[in-house]
Amino acid sequence: MADTLSITDNRTGKTYELPIQDGTIRAMDLRTIKVADDEFGMMTYDPAFMNTASCRSAITFIDGDKGILEYRGYPIEQLAEGSDFIETAYLILFGELPTAAQLKEWSEAVTLHTMLHENIKKFLTGFRYDAHPMGMFLSAVGALSTFYPDAKDIFNVESRRLQTIRLIAKVPSIAAYAFRHTIGRPYVLPDNELSYSGNFLNMLFKMTEPRYKPHPVLERALDVLFILHADHEQNCSTSAMRNIGSSQVDPYSALAGASAALYGPLHGGANEAVLRMLSEIGSKDKIPEFIKKVKAGEGRLMGFGHRVYKSYDPRAKIIKRMADLVFEVTGKNPLLEMALELERIALEDDYFVSRKLYPNVDFYSGLIYQAMGFPTSMFPVLFAIPRTAGWIAQWEEMLTDPDQKIARPRQIYIGSATRDYVGRDKRK
Ligand code: CMC
Repeated sequence: MADTLSITDNRTGKTYELPIQDGTIRAMDLRTIKVADDEFGMMTYDPAFMNTASCRSAITFIDGDKGILEYRGYPIEQLAEGSDFIETAYLILFGELPTAAQLKEWSEAVTLHTMLHENIKKFLTGFRYDAHPMGMFLSAVGALSTFYPDAKDIFNVESRRLQTIRLIAKVPSIAAYAFRHTIGRPYVLPDNELSYSGNFLNMLFKMTEPRYKPHPVLERALDVLFILHADHEQNCSTSAMRNIGSSQVDPYSALAGASAALYGPLHGGANEAVLRMLSEIGSKDKIPEFIKKVKAGEGRLMGFGHRVYKSYDPRAKIIKRMADLVFEVTGKNPLLEMALELERIALEDDYFVSRKLYPNVDFYSGLIYQAMGFPTSMFPVLFAIPRTAGWIAQWEEMLTDPDQKIARPRQIYIGSATRDYVGRDKRK
């Protein structure tokens, strides 16, 4: 069996043989298909990149039909069970699980970079009292580029490693400060004795006690949520990270752009939308009526459906289990009963079944975050912290891939043909 694709152009009767590699043809090979020599050549039209591989990647594997998610070959279920976020971040960034010595060194390096420059604090205090924490987060991440001009040296391995450590270390601090700003509390310094997630809880929730002790169940739950959100291959924000990074800008600027992409309600803002939806439905007896509206095209069932997963999102399964543990500590989120009922009805309904719409990672995560004391505006920020690991790994992979260049899609021009400028006094 030849690994080629034969294409006959019926306009010319010519046949072309295109090589197939990894079940893919190279879009540039299509450019040889043309009617006249001076033509541009054939392109593909693929709005929203529904069927275009933009890179070769060794980081995350997803089989959307089977509900499989793996980081560097390790199933997400096993990482959520046995690993912690800081180790998983190492795996995603550097390709292998660390040895004990590597993990210690990595963890210490991250711990030593959690503090923010005083001027970043001042920068954050400049926001209005009701500023959305995600707006504050992405602005502060972008502002970091002005503090670390050495980050422009993107082809220097050592510099890239330093920026990686800084970013992984500082995103929880920025997130916590944004949160404290919105509730009018003073910023809390990092505590080097605590774990990555434990220290984040400290910076968020410490009051007057001399030392904050995170609840072990909540600390672990947050850590597992971080593992689940650490990477998800070429999604909207990761593609933004790669696209912006392909201009060879520094990683802080690229990460600010990726965070902006994550801010949108169809991406990182979906769990906030789930809670709003549950509150709006109001009670279990209103669910059938709500489902009817969704089926009639009036709004979507938020937290359901995924571009890639066409069966249950494996992250949603793990989160659903975590929810029980968290609610034992915090008390049940009153919206949980409604979410469970909504899921039950939707999974039996032909509209959702035939379109392969299952709960995604966001369906239950918001309920957990809310029970842990986070306002909904913090949800995308809680997504951005762990995704920073994925964004940087994907950025680095893009930079070191000889196939990559500055990202520059083509278009099909549908505007006016060439016409002469008309002076202002002559226009009708
Ligand atoms: N509720 C009702 N109908 C839906 C939904 C939904 N949540 N999602 C898709 N559909 C329908 C859609 O109307 C269409 O029906 P038809 O063929 O009759 O026109 C069909 O299913 C296919 O939808 P699509 O819009 O072509 O699918 P997509 O791959 O472009 O969209 C999605 C993926 C995640 C944007 C979408 O499912 C959605 O809007 N879900 C709700 C928002 C959400 O939960 N987002 C979080 C995604 S997971 C976290 C992340 O990766 O950021």
